[in-house]
Amino acid sequence: MKILGIETSCDETSASIVENTTSYETVKILSNVVTSSLALHSKTGGIVPEVAAREQVKYIIPVIDKALHLVESINAIAVTVGPGLIGSLLVGVETAKTLAYVWKKPIIPVNHLIGHIYANFIGEISNDSIPNFPSLALIVSGGHTDLVLMKNHGKIKWLGGTRDDAGGEAFDKIGRLLGLPYPGGPSIEKAAKNGNPKAFNFPRPMIDSDDFDFSFSGLKTAVLREFKAMKQLNNETIADLAASVQEAIVDVLVSKTLNAAQKYKVKSILLSGGVAANQALRNRFKLEIGNWKLEIPFFVPEKWLCTDNAAMIATAAFFNYKPTHWSKITANPELYFN
Ligand code: KG4
Ligand code: ZN
Repeated sequence: MKILGIETSCDETSASIVENTTSYETVKILSNVVTSSLALHSKTGGIVPEVAAREQVKYIIPVIDKALHLVESINAIAVTVGPGLIGSLLVGVETAKTLAYVWKKPIIPVNHLIGHIYANFIGEISNDSIPNFPSLALIVSGGHTDLVLMKNHGKIKWLGGTRDDAGGEAFDKIGRLLGLPYPGGPSIEKAAKNGNPKAFNFPRPMIDSDDFDFSFSGLKTAVLREFKAMKQLNNETIADLAASVQEAIVDVLVSKTLNAAQKYKVKSILLSGGVAANQALRNRFKLEIGNWKLEIPFFVPEKWLCTDNAAMIATAAFFNYKPTHWSKITANPELYFN
């Protein structure tokens, strides 16, 4: 089975073809084309939805064409239907519906957040085993921070999420505050390499709350206060601020996830979403799983599969194969877990 995935929820335009491996437990990527309007948004310090949608229109057909280049035929089409920016989503959804109609192929709608989790099921890459259920998944991206319990494919229970800013959003807003290039996540990670993570003791919001919710807006306020009080700003202080912010975010994400993993006695932990590309976060998860003596296999996609891509969307459709008539498929910017 070969599935063409289409992802256009935000500023990335991506098309990918994945095929199941002989074991049927993972998929392999035959092609994965990703283009992004990020450079345009760097100039404005954040995503302008109208600009993102216009760029999607420009790229969608060339990207799909390129992804199909070396593949003779596909069996089905998977498309991100939400959550995301409505203008961007519509480009992918309407293109996918048109192709499904013309090519007479089944079409499968995919939730972008669930798609992120499935980057962990792309095989023959770095993981030498597959995730066992029940599994705990942390999705941490520019728009979302969610902890979900996965009892099986398609059986997902939401445990908690952010009450205000998402993890990636906190990185992006604080990055802007520090004068670092957009997006803030990779910029803060880079600046943090030369900084001392203990230089500033920023709050770890909700780290000890007995639910699985997150909150990052207080952290942003604390950084702003520190930043304003500073007499002198140089590369060293920026590096210290970046390292301390990263440390605070990593502390909260790891601690809450491991608490949930313990409570629900899961057999695997899956990290995903753009922030999962952060090396400090990846390292800390591995370290603390050992320190907490949890002995739970930890999965995280290769870095290029953490940020938005269509391979994860096609993979999610493979494991949740529910063809839907094209007339019933609509973009839903508010889609969540249900
Ligand atoms: O999953 P994604 O590509 O798009 C959404 O679905 O939102 O995530 C983008 C987010 C941005 O907030 C970006 O700053 C963050 O992921 N991000 C990172 C890193 N790479 C991307 N955050 C921290 N460290 C990184 N290396
Ligand atoms: Zn995403």
